[in-house]
Amino acid sequence: MTDRIALITGAAQGIGLACAEALAEDGCRVVLADLKESVTEEAARLGGHGYVCDMGDPAQIADLFDRIEAEVGPVSVLVNNAGIAIGADFLEMSEAQFRKVLDVNLVGVFLATQRAARTMVAQGIEGAIVNMSSINAQVAIPQIAGYCASKGGVMQLTKVASLALAPHNIRVNAVGPGSIDTEMMASVNADPAAFDRAMSRTPLKRPGTAREIGDVVAFLASPKASYVTGETIYVDGGRLALNYTV
Ligand SMILES: NC(=O)c1ccc[n+]([C@@H]2O[C@H](COP(=O)([O-])OP(=O)(O)OC[C@H]3O[C@@H](n4cnc5c(N)ncnc54)[C@H](O)[C@@H]3O)[C@@H](O)[C@H]2O)c1
Repeated sequence: MTDRIALITGAAQGIGLACAEALAEDGCRVVLADLKESVTEEAARLGGHGYVCDMGDPAQIADLFDRIEAEVGPVSVLVNNAGIAIGADFLEMSEAQFRKVLDVNLVGVFLATQRAARTMVAQGIEGAIVNMSSINAQVAIPQIAGYCASKGGVMQLTKVASLALAPHNIRVNAVGPGSIDTEMMASVNADPAAFDRAMSRTPLKRPGTAREIGDVVAFLASPKASYVTGETIYVDGGRLALNYTV
């Protein structure tokens, strides 16, 4: 992957940073984007480039790609990882809360995919795009309506984009993590009863690591996955396979 420029969004920490580390080890020139300014330090540590960008803001997304193309080069691997969850009782969740999550987790993924693909098509780059979905594309948690809707949307957007871009040999896939030990899981980790409930639904009986997601993302981005497109791979310790135990 030495000739590839890989952009990873939401890469200051957690799963996004692990994706960047895995892709850098595979030889990619990594470009990290995040809301957090610490993204520039992480990028420098990986010998890459860091950009502060709100992936929920269309103007900032457009500016991000313009700057990367001018300063680094065209993106040939895009990992749409930036994501947020806002929890609220279903009957109390506000329209603003619901829309905020969709803006980052779904609209941002659409806009970044479209912008990256326009350059790939124009320059004949046979790129790879990997979206961060979730097991919540398939199963649901009632307190995070926007999040579950957004991740189901990412699964379908992955299929749509894979079909639209297949004629250009651009592959589009997704990864659907289960419970992964990052800041997003901090509230579950801090509550032993909640942690035990989550693990009771996890056949491998432990949370996954960010790197266990990053490695699957790197696989999907690589030529080893050259015939895989439109797919969501669930990396969930067996969660989706579990009905109930007797
Ligand atoms: N941790 C899990 O259990 C889990 C499970 C399924 C899916 N995911 C998905 O994995 C992705 C990464 O999550 P994580 O667990 O590493 O969480 P995290 O909160 O540790 O990291 C998310 C990163 O995204 C950044 N970010 C948030 N909003 C942004 C925005 N508008 N623009 C740019 N960057 C933004 C944050 O600053 C942070 O660095 C998310 O899409 C999340 O939905 C996580």
